Amino acid sequence: MILVTGGTGLVGSHLLYQLSLENDAIKAIHRKNNDLRAVKNVFSFFSSDYENLFQKIDWVEADITDIISLEEAFKDVTEVYHSAALVSFNSKDYRAMDEINVEGTSNIVNFCIANKVKKLCFVSSIATIEKSFTSQMMDETDEWNMEKVSYGYAMTKYASEMEVWRASQEGVPVVIVNPGVILGAGYWHQGTGAIFSKIDKGFKFYTEGVTGFVSVNDVVKAMLLLMKSDIVNQRYILVAENSSFKEVFYQIAQNFGKKPPSVKVTKLMSAIGWRIEKLKSAFTNIPPALTKHSAKSIHEKRYYSSEKIKKELNFNFESIPETIENVCEIFNRDAK
Ligand SMILES: NC(=O)c1ccc[n+]([C@@H]2O[C@H](COP(=O)([O-])OP(=O)(O)OC[C@H]3O[C@@H](n4cnc5c(N)ncnc54)[C@H](OP(=O)(O)O)[C@@H]3O)[C@@H](O)[C@H]2O)c1
Repeated sequence: MILVTGGTGLVGSHLLYQLSLENDAIKAIHRKNNDLRAVKNVFSFFSSDYENLFQKIDWVEADITDIISLEEAFKDVTEVYHSAALVSFNSKDYRAMDEINVEGTSNIVNFCIANKVKKLCFVSSIATIEKSFTSQMMDETDEWNMEKVSYGYAMTKYASEMEVWRASQEGVPVVIVNPGVILGAGYWHQGTGAIFSKIDKGFKFYTEGVTGFVSVNDVVKAMLLLMKSDIVNQRYILVAENSSFKEVFYQIAQNFGKKPPSVKVTKLMSAIGWRIEKLKSAFTNIPPALTKHSAKSIHEKRYYSSEKIKKELNFNFESIPETIENVCEIFNRDAK
């Protein structure tokens, strides 16, 4: 029996769809107030038989921070895909991220050890990879540097990777994937899905900062291949291309037939922007669109290498223009 955490999110829903094509014994956890319609909607993008595929999943109500609820979820489980996390660049969310990302992963790891699961796949992030002094291009050997990386999301994802390595030391075979910014269909008003909605509505701003991008299809493909392979106790960066935000935003606008973003955001503009957002958020309680960390990171140029997975698994990535074209096509069908 396979168990998926984070199945109601972008990665988890696409993973569940792919798993449902080949497996009958799949469990996924969801939190109490989640109505699962968004997951079924993702299934409907890819198959007319989506109702039957969705029915294959045994949904169990559980929260990864609640040990009692995980007891039921782990019954008869032999393989685990752990994708649940809180993704936030707002320092206000640090405590919640510590609880969900670190303690939650620790709970998952403890259940994997106790239940002697055959393999655990963990979705980490390129946020845990830090530039070495010798090379521009970062790879899996680049050590995380606490002094350089001090924002909460990276810290908690790094600490959760440590929990997963603890599982490997306790005899649970593990694989970790470190994706870049994940682009995929669905969830148009949250996470990276919101980029598509905003650009469709005429979002005007861009920066020349660079980071790694990857399609959700490739993230899921890599997770499935790694779980089926004999590879254990390794981590893999998943980045199809290192691109600037300008390039990616231009391509999305082009696919929507919209004017490309035309206002280059300077460092000064973002420094003012995050302060205004912070103030606005204090009065409205709405999460800020820009935080101190994101205001800085959108200008950074960071390059990641995925040579390891390309060589070891003969892995081919979808190009980012192809990913953007596919996602925009689904957006036009689904969100308009
Ligand atoms: N999106 C990216 O660009 C990106 C890039 C690199 C790495 N990642 C990593 O990829 C993974 C999946 O990201 P995503 O984009 O799919 O995130 P997402 O869409 O925000 O989904 C997060 C998932 O985690 C679940 N979750 C959060 N707290 C939980 C808790 N206490 N108990 C149980 N489930 C909980 C959420 O459930 P609810 O629906 O109930 O909230 C949701 O299913 C994360 O580990 C993230 O760190 C994401």
